[in-house]
Amino acid sequence: MYQALKPFMFRLDPETSHNFAMGMMSSNAWPLRKAFPALPDSEMRSAQSKHMTWRHAVGLAAGFDKDARALDFLAHLGFGAIEVGTVTLKPQIGNERPRIWRIKEDNSLRNAMGFPSGGAQEVLRRVKTYKGPATLGVNIGKNKDTPLEQAADEYVALYKMFAPHADYIVINVSSPNTADLRKLQERAWLEQLLKPFTEISERKPIYLKISPDESENTVNDMVEVAKEFDLSGLIATNTTSQHQYDVGGISGELLTDLARKSWEPLLKHADDSFDIVGVGGFSKPEHFEEFFDLGGKFAQVYTAFVYQGPDILKLDS
Ligand SMILES: Cc1cc2nc3c(=O)[nH]c(=O)nc-3n(C[C@H](O)[C@H](O)[C@H](O)COP(=O)(O)O)c2cc1C
Repeated sequence: MYQALKPFMFRLDPETSHNFAMGMMSSNAWPLRKAFPALPDSEMRSAQSKHMTWRHAVGLAAGFDKDARALDFLAHLGFGAIEVGTVTLKPQIGNERPRIWRIKEDNSLRNAMGFPSGGAQEVLRRVKTYKGPATLGVNIGKNKDTPLEQAADEYVALYKMFAPHADYIVINVSSPNTADLRKLQERAWLEQLLKPFTEISERKPIYLKISPDESENTVNDMVEVAKEFDLSGLIATNTTSQHQYDVGGISGELLTDLARKSWEPLLKHADDSFDIVGVGGFSKPEHFEEFFDLGGKFAQVYTAFVYQGPDILKLDS
């Protein structure tokens, strides 16, 4: 079914196409569910850690359903988890369009979205009504006009709003499309950002989403600080800004190798209480297999879902 729709969808500009698909998916209408049947339970591979249980090891990465509009339909398809967001505290429109481009020959995308968000209040209203079978993550980020010095207050406020209604929270410090955001990955900034979270009792699992463009030293610092502040793990990785194109970050097959170079050494730091969620260029069953063979439990996709549709959820095809 997806292969039949794709030529039409790919004739539209990428964001128009995405919004059209989101409109359909948010209706969660019976004919649509019939046309896109659920992944059978027998084809799911469950994944579990001390912090999370996913009924299927493949989840939907952040940025696809930023405002939590289509959770029921996406859960119906069979994703093990859905990561809403990035959500910002105040609504914001993001960068000017066009801001998503296809690189079809490489099954990749480039985006410079800049966190368009309906804002925390609007997204929270939808998140509160979700009761589906997919684990729910909420990915949070700072507003564009918030100085780095005030970022911690904003992340804590977002955490407090969403944590009661989500299974896990992701602190996004790695989008390349919000000026200076990636600085929050540096030790001093990161400590300042995470410190107020130590004062919260009975916390929900918190993950840090990192970029694939950092030095080994910065990554090692992030692991150390994340463990010191009792985070539940890292999500590696966001899009890369190392490329030959114009503005924005690259995802999909052009990211596969770089993302692997990021999550593979990180898996050595994984243990009972520290998860590494893998994301970036997973587009074939072998990619997932490799990640699982090396000890990874939770994987996410975005771009391969755009190019392949729900078939990407089938791990043994
Ligand atoms: C159009 C687009 C928007 C995205 N928006 C976000 C976002 O808001 N927050 C975030 O943490 N990651 C965002 N991402 C990054 C994805 O979550 C993922 O980390 C990245 O695309 C690599 O995975 P993939 O190769 O499977 O797409 C976005 C990616 C794309 C393509």
